[in-house]
Amino acid sequence: MGVSEETTAPESTGISRRAFFGGAVASAAAGAAAGITTTGLASTAANAGPAAVSASDSAYDFYGPHQAGIRTPPQDHLVLMVFDVTTTSAAELQVMLAKWSAAIAQYTGGLAVGAVEPERDLAVPGDTGEAEGMGPNQLTVTLGFAPSMFDDRFGWKPHRPAALVDIPAFASDALTPGYTGGDICVQACASDPQVAYHAIRNLARMARTTAATRYVVQGFGRASAGAGQTTPRNLMGFKDGTRNITTDDDFEKFVWVGDDADQQWMIGGSYLVTRKIHMLIETWDADFIGDQHAVFGRTKVQGAPLGGAHEFDTPDFAAKAADGSPVIPATSHVALAAHENNGGVKILRRGYNFTDGIDSVGRLDAGLMFISYQKDPAQFVALQSKLGASDRLNEYIRHVGSGVFAVPPGLSGAGDYFGKALFGA
Ligand code: HEM
Repeated sequence: MGVSEETTAPESTGISRRAFFGGAVASAAAGAAAGITTTGLASTAANAGPAAVSASDSAYDFYGPHQAGIRTPPQDHLVLMVFDVTTTSAAELQVMLAKWSAAIAQYTGGLAVGAVEPERDLAVPGDTGEAEGMGPNQLTVTLGFAPSMFDDRFGWKPHRPAALVDIPAFASDALTPGYTGGDICVQACASDPQVAYHAIRNLARMARTTAATRYVVQGFGRASAGAGQTTPRNLMGFKDGTRNITTDDDFEKFVWVGDDADQQWMIGGSYLVTRKIHMLIETWDADFIGDQHAVFGRTKVQGAPLGGAHEFDTPDFAAKAADGSPVIPATSHVALAAHENNGGVKILRRGYNFTDGIDSVGRLDAGLMFISYQKDPAQFVALQSKLGASDRLNEYIRHVGSGVFAVPPGLSGAGDYFGKALFGA
């Protein structure tokens, strides 16, 4: 998918009542889909002329060859929820995924699912209402399946892609079960945090009897850059995302699963790796600037590679200082992660800053919700094997959560739903 296909499309917000009813839910498993109605909550985009389109009015297409929320230029806010599937019934799972697929189409169009204010006093509202009238806000909802989904529970075993295996342990891991594993990952990104939360909350509500929330991370201040975006800063104060993947060629080569996939249902999909990375903020804040530069191999304000002057200067990993030492230290973060030093391997980074308040001893509990997309999780594993063992940054961070998910391609339209190809084989 070209960047142009992912530009905002404010006019594309109206997903009709008929499409919703006639679509995915009906095609999954009949009667169990009852109970979902759409209010036809009007998007503010309906009244906005092209010149008046604001972030709240604009929407990304949900349907297409790839799921939105991967190549989409990172929006400012993230809510990422990982679910454990609690039902052991494949039919119930199928209905849940069909309901979710149809609901996500509504939410990304700025529409509700179910009445916010039902006519009967004794009726429970279908939609929780906190996004009422707010517009689509560039919401994207991206979904992936963990390796555990391909165990004996749902008959999916024959469909498991060979690449979908648990991420191995790395030196310096400090993983906690609460932020590791899970069955299904749902990444919601939007220009408004409440719109992202609303989508996730309502999906969780819809799945009450079939899936339980394992964990949720709320991210802010995107810590990655897409094509044409200025590079934001992570909570260590450094520009993050300078050398990210942006070109069509790189997306084909490193992000999208190609026609040679062992599992046809993954063509056009990708693999999502999540790492919840806690920063030892107080320690970092006491470090002197020369060391901070050496840790990343870049300068703080400009974001230039050491030895260079500007952010987008190409790092010169061969350059030597007068004493013969490399200008960019060999164990700096960028020297270890750069494609020049990893047989050409690249990944798409799409992380967010997060804060969870303070920890049990009063330290700031914050860091980077690292999110990467790649056509094979082995790309991440190759990089993190080196970073986990030698990165100077390790003194200031702890990886506390981890996950890997097969992200299917985008849905073709109403009636299609996530996992459709995996049932009934
Ligand atoms: C809290 C943890 C992390 C922080 C604060 C961080 C921060 C940064 C910063 C500031 C840069 C330089 C600017 C840029 O090109 O984006 C960078 C580059 C990069 N990081 Fe990280 N990063 C973290 C974790 C990771 C992890 C876990 C991986 C993958 C396993 C990774 C992979 C990369 C790659 C591939 C680059 C580009 C290197 C280059 O080509 O120059 N980072 N990171």
